[in-house]
Amino acid sequence: MLLPFFLRLATGLFCLSGAVQAFAADLYREPFRPQFHFTPERNWMNDPNGMVYFEGEYHLFYQYNPFGDKWGHMSWGHAVSRDLVHWRHLPLALAEEHGVMIFSGSAVVDWRNTSGFGKDGKPPLVALYTGHHTAKPLQNQHIAYSTDRGRTWTKFRGNPVLDIGEKDFRDPKVFWHEPTRRWIMAVAWPVQRKVRLYSSPNLKEWSHLSDFGPAGSTSGIWECPDLFPVQLEGNRRESKWVLIVNVGSGAPAGGSGCQYFVGEFDGTRFTPEVASPPARWADYSRDFYAAVSWSDIPKRDNRRLWIGWMSNWEYAGAVPTSPWRSAMSLPRELMLRRSGHEHRLIQIPARELRKLRGRPYHRGAGTVDEAADWLRRREVSGDQLEIDIEFESAGSGKFGLKVRQGEGEETVIGCEPSGNRLFLDRTRAGKTDFHPKFSGIHEAPLSARNGRIRLRVFLDASSIEVFANEGEATLTALVLPASASRGLEFWAEPDGPKIRRVDIWKLRSIWN
Ligand code: FRU
Repeated sequence: MLLPFFLRLATGLFCLSGAVQAFAADLYREPFRPQFHFTPERNWMNDPNGMVYFEGEYHLFYQYNPFGDKWGHMSWGHAVSRDLVHWRHLPLALAEEHGVMIFSGSAVVDWRNTSGFGKDGKPPLVALYTGHHTAKPLQNQHIAYSTDRGRTWTKFRGNPVLDIGEKDFRDPKVFWHEPTRRWIMAVAWPVQRKVRLYSSPNLKEWSHLSDFGPAGSTSGIWECPDLFPVQLEGNRRESKWVLIVNVGSGAPAGGSGCQYFVGEFDGTRFTPEVASPPARWADYSRDFYAAVSWSDIPKRDNRRLWIGWMSNWEYAGAVPTSPWRSAMSLPRELMLRRSGHEHRLIQIPARELRKLRGRPYHRGAGTVDEAADWLRRREVSGDQLEIDIEFESAGSGKFGLKVRQGEGEETVIGCEPSGNRLFLDRTRAGKTDFHPKFSGIHEAPLSARNGRIRLRVFLDASSIEVFANEGEATLTALVLPASASRGLEFWAEPDGPKIRRVDIWKLRSIWN
């Protein structure tokens, strides 16, 4: 008698899990649902949080509202990946509780068990986040730990671990500093436009070291800092420190954006490489915010990898996607490129993304007209594409590509050699009227490199990322065209360039 019962139970459970999977797969085919960018199944998401690599898994936590598609009840959602491309959703990691929301922060592997949270000789994962108090004007820093590969978390009884009695004081990013053998925290003092640095022997007791700022862009509040060494392109043994400061408004394309400073960190203080550093931007379009990097990438890999939230505080709550709201950018590798006496941050798509490549199309040198004709004859089009194109810059004519073309819709990506600029025009990109600040043309400075301009472009269902000249300028933009708008075209004004080479791949979905 028992056996049939268990059989029935097992089949019932099997059907149930099958149903859940089918449901999940349908969910990932809604209009505008990104097919190779991370999105939560449903509800609101903003900043990436707690990114850490441990035992073969990249962890991605994120600001999440478990109860709706608007900002609120902030908690940490959670997903893991073995390759930075395919993600598996896990249950909520840290929930709002006792009037304290879980705001942005970081996570580290406490290899030396300095915190004492480790178990059975294994290091704990420790998350550091801002406790945002809903009943009083206070933000302070808290910790939580996990001894089961991030599957379950315990909030520390001694929280908060850092409290200066401020209403705005948030987004702790922590790393181990080997030369001084202690933990360093960079944390935003938003209204003061400062990043405060603290040190700790054990992640529980923090002492103030120094402040950086105001500097660079100061019109918006400062949020989500990060501080890390980055290798120089072409000389990976040399590195400089980069201080990331996300700003709530005043970015080049308007609204929120990500600025950075390059310099030195001596264990106590960050000093920029130029006095009175100007604002330098990690991205020039509107949808790359709260970007921070992964912690504990193994030495043998040694890349500095990061990801940003693909939206903008000016209109994030109005973007017409359902039942989820917001996606993350593609994961990118950071490096520094020399530019006169300074260094500039460059970003290239993480190499793991090559896994997504499906059917390839290749064409060698020719005129822009010939290449455009080739596109038509081969019927190259799509809403999930990687396009890698190299132009031989010539006269002053503008040139570029048009993507996601359809009835009355297109997004124009272009270069204007005389103004040394790269632009993205999403004024006719599809749905734009859901918010007055959404439509627009965004531009980045860009000059030819060795007489060439290379554009690497990733199209997904509702986003475009342009990496120009091996990551010297990037444009990350949401677009909401009809799914039938899949046309692709190359264009050039008279006196425009020749094309040296084009490679295009259809990209696979990560959800099936
Ligand atoms: C940045 C931010 C953080 C804060 C979080 C709250 O987008 O404002 O400063 O911790 O979002 O969701």
